[in-house]
Amino acid sequence: MLKYRPEELTKLPRSVEYKAGTVYIIDQTKLPAEFKIIALRTVEEVAEAIKTMKVRGAPAIGATAAFGLALYAETSKAKTKEDFFAGFYKAYETLKNTRPTAVNLFWALNRVKELAEEHREDSLDEIKRLIVEEAQRIADEDVEANLRMGHYGAEVLPEGNVLTHCNAGSLATVHLGTVGAVLRVMHKEGTLKLLWVDETRPVLQGARLSAWEYSYDGIPLKLIADNAAAFVMQQGKVDAIIVGADRIVANGDFANKIGTYMLAVLAREHGIPFFTVAPLSTIDMSLKSGKDIPIEERSPEEVLRCGGCRVAPDVDVYNPAFDVTPHKYLTGIITDRGVVWPPFKRNLKKLFGEIY
Ligand code: MRU
Repeated sequence: MLKYRPEELTKLPRSVEYKAGTVYIIDQTKLPAEFKIIALRTVEEVAEAIKTMKVRGAPAIGATAAFGLALYAETSKAKTKEDFFAGFYKAYETLKNTRPTAVNLFWALNRVKELAEEHREDSLDEIKRLIVEEAQRIADEDVEANLRMGHYGAEVLPEGNVLTHCNAGSLATVHLGTVGAVLRVMHKEGTLKLLWVDETRPVLQGARLSAWEYSYDGIPLKLIADNAAAFVMQQGKVDAIIVGADRIVANGDFANKIGTYMLAVLAREHGIPFFTVAPLSTIDMSLKSGKDIPIEERSPEEVLRCGGCRVAPDVDVYNPAFDVTPHKYLTGIITDRGVVWPPFKRNLKKLFGEIY
């Protein structure tokens, strides 16, 4: 079923890596002007990188935070387990309090924490080794999950022009991307004719990041202003829309980058299939409806400025970073365990029931 390996689909390196007490990330705030890998050597540096979006995108945030705990474990000077765990919980809290919406952050941190707690009776060296190993496993599994989603997605998306919003590409994950994997497999198969990339104000993840990474891999694309999307659909130039997700809940509602909901409504009006792509680590079955998802509000400066320039007078700003798309607008959810079709509440429950 898996025709391609990651290295056949992208020339990009992994966005997040860990080696001997240091987390390496591509500094996404510098793109597209500069491709720069930075080294993070303390938990505080990792937390700051997540908060300031040097690393962003739900799965990338999760893996980076898990590596933050690995970094703590490998560099901790604690002599006793009590001291080690006290520092570990502090690191966990620091990393947890960075961004509220993407559930992958909490999923990854809890996975490492639970493993460490299960092994509390083991030696300190063994606990440290297990923490580092688990963080690395989370990152490696993310790449495999993306590869599977890429293949599943390419099977169900129609041949033609695809529109995407924000960046759910390789940069937003450990490697390949969620949407990114689907687009890359489609491109390889020759079924992706043109990619429409929304610029995605206020932070411009579409213009700065998606346009950069997809053109780097030779995918034919056109960048559009966010407010051009409706017209492009009306002109019959969009055959499908795919977006990522920061949190999908039990009934299929999902949070994603602000502007996603607007596209979903437009897709319905124009009869265009609308998919989200996300690994199981993005699905939060503990929440019943999208209304329960905490939505991050970010600094007014992101709206008042564009590309570093002031573009508005000193007025009040409302800057929600995400919106919630009701499940009724979704054609399907492409996961690493296959495509979930409506009715989402029943089929998501079934999927989780089969796995856990
Ligand atoms: O604020 P960001 O840039 O972290 O938001 C990212 C998104 O909304 C992505 O679409 C989502 O995290 C999925 S990434 C595979």
